[in-house]
Amino acid sequence: MSPNAWKLDVYEQLDGYAALRKALRHTPDEIIAFMKDSGHRGRGGAGFPVGMKWGFVPQNDGKPHYMVINADEGEPGTCKDLPLMMNDPHSVIEGVIISSYAIRANNAYIYVRGEAVHAIRKLRHAVKEAKAAGYLGRNILGSGFDLDIVVHAGAGAYICGEETALLDSLEGYRGQPRLRPPFPATHGLYQQPSCINNVGTIAAVPHIILGGAQWWKDLGSDNSAGTMIYSLSGRVNRPGQYECGMGTTLRELIELAGGMQEGHEIKFWTPGGSSTPMLTADHIDVPLDFDSVAKEGSMLGTTALMIYSNQDCPVYASYRWIKFYHHESCGKCTPCREGNYWMVHVYERILSGRGTEEDLRTLTDACANLLGRSFCGLGDGATSCVTSSLKYFRQDYLDYIEGHRPPLFHPDELVGA
Ligand code: NAI
Ligand code: SF4
Repeated sequence: MSPNAWKLDVYEQLDGYAALRKALRHTPDEIIAFMKDSGHRGRGGAGFPVGMKWGFVPQNDGKPHYMVINADEGEPGTCKDLPLMMNDPHSVIEGVIISSYAIRANNAYIYVRGEAVHAIRKLRHAVKEAKAAGYLGRNILGSGFDLDIVVHAGAGAYICGEETALLDSLEGYRGQPRLRPPFPATHGLYQQPSCINNVGTIAAVPHIILGGAQWWKDLGSDNSAGTMIYSLSGRVNRPGQYECGMGTTLRELIELAGGMQEGHEIKFWTPGGSSTPMLTADHIDVPLDFDSVAKEGSMLGTTALMIYSNQDCPVYASYRWIKFYHHESCGKCTPCREGNYWMVHVYERILSGRGTEEDLRTLTDACANLLGRSFCGLGDGATSCVTSSLKYFRQDYLDYIEGHRPPLFHPDELVGA
């Protein structure tokens, strides 16, 4: 990435806002059709087709429409949107303007995680620059299209990354998920038609408009068009963000990241953050695209690759994640509120050397009662680490239970939840 690309003059030298000029020469419906043709899919975790989502927003219905950008990145291990907002905020702003034009919205909100103060400053600065240059505000570039963007700071709750909780939070209420359907496409912000897209999804839009639908498709693999920012953390020599074509394998990414740290061999890893089932060393050559990862029983998610070695413990990692989900559960529904609470206790019993095989059945049973029975994706996501670690690393659990591995806690140290 070019240094100082966050400044408008540098961004413009790099073809910045050329895509906006091009988009404004077309009708909103043409932009939506183009986006459908490009095969672009959401980068927030679910991989929903972008053109289809924009197309769900009813057109010419006389209602106000809203564009909302989900920049509340909070999935453990995920760090792709923050660097994008810090280093390339005008790509985000330009993408917001084009997508708002496509869905006929005159107001857009970027909901940023409250702790990301530097990103909020960078975005607000970019909005100011774009407005002064005529890319925002009234009659943008003489097109007759008006748009205002508000950069809103959240308050640091993971649940506010769930799209309907985000909307409640934006409206000033406590952030808790709403029942879907109706989907935000028809009943979103202030119950009006709205589109909610992730930062990475939107930042790619200007490049797709300029490069063309076929160019974007060719960069990726079947059914997973374009590039993706893969965030690598854990036991690699150079953790960080690597933008590569969809379908790159973990083996290739580890090579880019300078290899595994000395003395470490890969044991388990997450393809897309803690909400996606963990995979093992046997999966190192799986193409990291939506369909190939799904075939292996996991999800591409947020492409947050957390890499653990033979010196790390999958039981302890799962415990830490369950503690996170318990802490972040909004408490609205019983399976998630109670299930995560009790799973923390069961993990602590196992890790303190007092567990039994019955505890493994309890964990499996708790997950069966969470998955598909929780009100939102947080409850579903919490089960991923438990079921996948039990599937691949049952012996690691048994090692604590049978006394082959020293306990990690003394029973007196246990704090429960
Ligand atoms: P989802 O698949 O339920 O929905 C995806 C999008 O499509 C939503 O915007 C939804 O409104 C829209 N949609 C789906 N069906 C629709 C329909 N029939 N009509 C209109 N619109 C429709 O996925 P969800 O629950 O929004 O997101 C889950 C993902 O979020 C997980 O896969 C996880 O990887 C990811 N995630 C990301 C985090 C981050 O920090 N980026 C944090 C936690 C989870
Ligand atoms: Fe709240 Fe968890 Fe239920 Fe989601 S699944 S509504 S986070 S309690």
